[in-house]
Amino acid sequence: MSTLTADTIGAFLDEQSRKSTLRFITCGSVDDGKSTLIGRLLFESKNIFDDQLSALESDSRRYGTQGGKVDLALLVDGLQAEREQGITIDVAYRFFATDKRRYIVADTPGHEQYTRNMATGASTADLAVILVDARKGVLTQTRRHSRIAAMMGIRHFVLAVNKMDLVGCDEPVFSAIVDEYKAFVATLGDIAVAAIPVSGLDGDNVLRPSERMPWYHGPTLMAHLDTVELGAPDRVSAFRMPIQYVNRPDLDFRGFSGRLAAGHVRVGDRVRVLPSGVVTSVRAVISGFDQAKEAVRGDSVTLTLAEEVDASRGDVIVAADAPPEVADQFEARLLWLNEHDLVPGRQYLLKSACKEVTATITAIKHREDVNTGAHMAAKALHLNEIAVVNLATSAPLVFEPYTRDRALGSFILVDKLTFATVGAGMIDFALRRASNIHWQSLSIGKDERAAQKHQRPRCIWFTGLSGSGKSTVADLVERALHAEGRHTYLLDGDNVRHGLNRDLGFTEADRVENIRRVAEVARLMVDAGLIVLVSFISPFRSERRAARDLFAPGEFVEVFVDTPLEECERRDVKGLYAKARKGELRNFTGVDSAYERPEAPEVHLHTLQHAPEELALQVIKSLG
Ligand code: ADX
Repeated sequence: MSTLTADTIGAFLDEQSRKSTLRFITCGSVDDGKSTLIGRLLFESKNIFDDQLSALESDSRRYGTQGGKVDLALLVDGLQAEREQGITIDVAYRFFATDKRRYIVADTPGHEQYTRNMATGASTADLAVILVDARKGVLTQTRRHSRIAAMMGIRHFVLAVNKMDLVGCDEPVFSAIVDEYKAFVATLGDIAVAAIPVSGLDGDNVLRPSERMPWYHGPTLMAHLDTVELGAPDRVSAFRMPIQYVNRPDLDFRGFSGRLAAGHVRVGDRVRVLPSGVVTSVRAVISGFDQAKEAVRGDSVTLTLAEEVDASRGDVIVAADAPPEVADQFEARLLWLNEHDLVPGRQYLLKSACKEVTATITAIKHREDVNTGAHMAAKALHLNEIAVVNLATSAPLVFEPYTRDRALGSFILVDKLTFATVGAGMIDFALRRASNIHWQSLSIGKDERAAQKHQRPRCIWFTGLSGSGKSTVADLVERALHAEGRHTYLLDGDNVRHGLNRDLGFTEADRVENIRRVAEVARLMVDAGLIVLVSFISPFRSERRAARDLFAPGEFVEVFVDTPLEECERRDVKGLYAKARKGELRNFTGVDSAYERPEAPEVHLHTLQHAPEELALQVIKSLG
């Protein structure tokens, strides 16, 4: 302990900071020997503390699977046990160092349901160690993990063919696996693969070259990690800083705090604030409590600007002459991470850099087969599926294509109700630049309005006797559509008769006019792109027919709420049937005014046999 002077600590820290850092992930299926291999790396590179080692020795005697030998997997699996107890660990990051480099390794669980964690680990990694069991070779899971790692921007793969001891350290076994894997990786783009035959258990080719595999002349895993050339991680060098916080302690000071995602910034630099586009210059760069001359990528600073600029959290300050793009429609690659399918048109929360907006997937262009990369048509996306999608955001987003900048090119999708992360995405390019939108009111029609709402406008027309349950079912249908993010409106007979149609009674003529007006209103609303629910007795076929004719084919959905008169009368919620029977109310439908049953409604609801919720579902299903 006496040797730990301030000088030696300083020298140590200096040396550490000169070393480059390599972030990598390990991917493999369960039982591929991932934990043992990482344990071996830590153990042999002397990155295990003495107390950890003695704990490991006693744990190995108690739980080990290696018959008294130290079980290195236990070093790593402690966290797995916590995971099994339900303690949420997304990704276990381990830190270690050699003479050459510092390492941050994201240990991501191999089970299929943990793909989310694998993707999280991959999003910041420079390199992926893909583990395969020499006895099993390349599996679907190997391909899935490799595809996700590539999609997340990792360009350096190490194929560690593990358990070579169990295949007699046989070269042909290794070569066959390598050939198969390299052929697969060639389909993923420009990726460098180093293949190394190892035994995590015995340590062959981990740190120590294997004597049992003299046919292998390449580096050990550790030597490869120590020397692999990574190149520049991101290709954007222009200044970008997403605003995390507007710092306004008093009226005289207004600073924008954030972390530089790319490039550098100096006092006096011309900058642009996006999405507003205002150009100004940097007055001061404040780091902690001190004024600084400049800040570089990774620094957290507060900037003050020469002019009063209205910017808020989620806006991005960028180099004035090299701004990123701003758009509200994108093509992106998406990894779906939720048990509930992705449904195009549903609203999700999109989180990117530090901005949150509402987003919907407007189209699934194609799904990608994890094994072959083949493009397949898809209406929905299931757990762990990958697709190229179009998406639209509720507000403009400042972004870079993911291939240029991981920070400004990636996003996650979050369920609005549960706040679960349901998808991870990488932006390919903008489909429509937000700055290019010119509204020409005359040229905007129903289709444009509907596209913006990501829905097919409809008129869902409920007809049936008074007290049949029209409004109850219509209300349930509207609630369900609303929850799906649809834009709806419910026109209810009782309500409309209080306003627009308060001049009308229940004579035949008045009913005809009643229906004509409400049909016209519904048509306007459909033209506005809405899904309109109309709940009117609408007893006459000819008026229902006239209403239908106002709409395009398929737009009008007639729902017959079929409740027998006796039942409506038995319920008599408003007491009107009783009044009508006593002669106190004239022209009452079903009593002294006709109700003409629909002949071919799109949906026929038999209300006696089903609960309102089931009926509502029947209507929703009919919408396709
Ligand atoms: S419609 O026949 O013109 O389509 P609408 O749906 O607007 O009827 O209004 C029906 C509602 O008005 C009924 O649910 C009931 O509450 C009320 N009402 C009052 N008088 C009558 C009547 N004579 N016939 C039917 N409904 C009536």
